Amino acid sequence: MKAIIVCTSISHGNTKRIADIMGQVLDARVVAPEQVDMADLATYDLVGFGSGIYLGSFHPQLRQFVRSLPEQQRGRAFVFATSGFPDAVPHSFSRPLVRLLGQKGFETLDAFSCRAWDTYLPFKLVGGIRKGRPNATDLESARAFAEGLRARISTTP
Ligand SMILES: Cc1cc2nc3c(=O)[nH]c(=O)nc-3n(C[C@H](O)[C@H](O)[C@H](O)COP(=O)(O)O)c2cc1C
Repeated sequence: MKAIIVCTSISHGNTKRIADIMGQVLDARVVAPEQVDMADLATYDLVGFGSGIYLGSFHPQLRQFVRSLPEQQRGRAFVFATSGFPDAVPHSFSRPLVRLLGQKGFETLDAFSCRAWDTYLPFKLVGGIRKGRPNATDLESARAFAEGLRARISTTP
């Protein structure tokens, strides 16, 4: 299986920590959007897309990258995020990215998110919230998530 992870991690490197664990399990490089060769992307069996959440959405750099992809039949994808608050309806942050990936020809297999140190302005005054996260349990959840993906990819053609 050939996998790659596209990750924008700007604020505290929270999402990069999650991406690195997933990358170990999937034997995948973790790259920023500007490091991706668009033509090369079609050659992967699995592509991960992740970032922190900003005002309810994935980071603009990641969303812009996905928007810029040509529409064509592609492989499978997964999305992941770190955020102060959970990914919950009706304000799900994963759904719009999954929809956009679908428009670009990706089948999104699953979504992962965990809480992480959040220093959005109102919380910055008190040193932020979710300090210390992602913690060991979050990293273990990310590992288990990636192992599940690896198993699915290797058993379904
Ligand atoms: C300007 C700003 C806006 C944010 N907006 C949200 C938000 O809408 N929802 C949320 O759950 N977390 C929000 N956060 C918290 C980030 O998603 C969280 O810190 C994330 O782990 C950052 O990821 P990174 O360190 O990989 O960039 C915000 C943080 C900042 C600095």
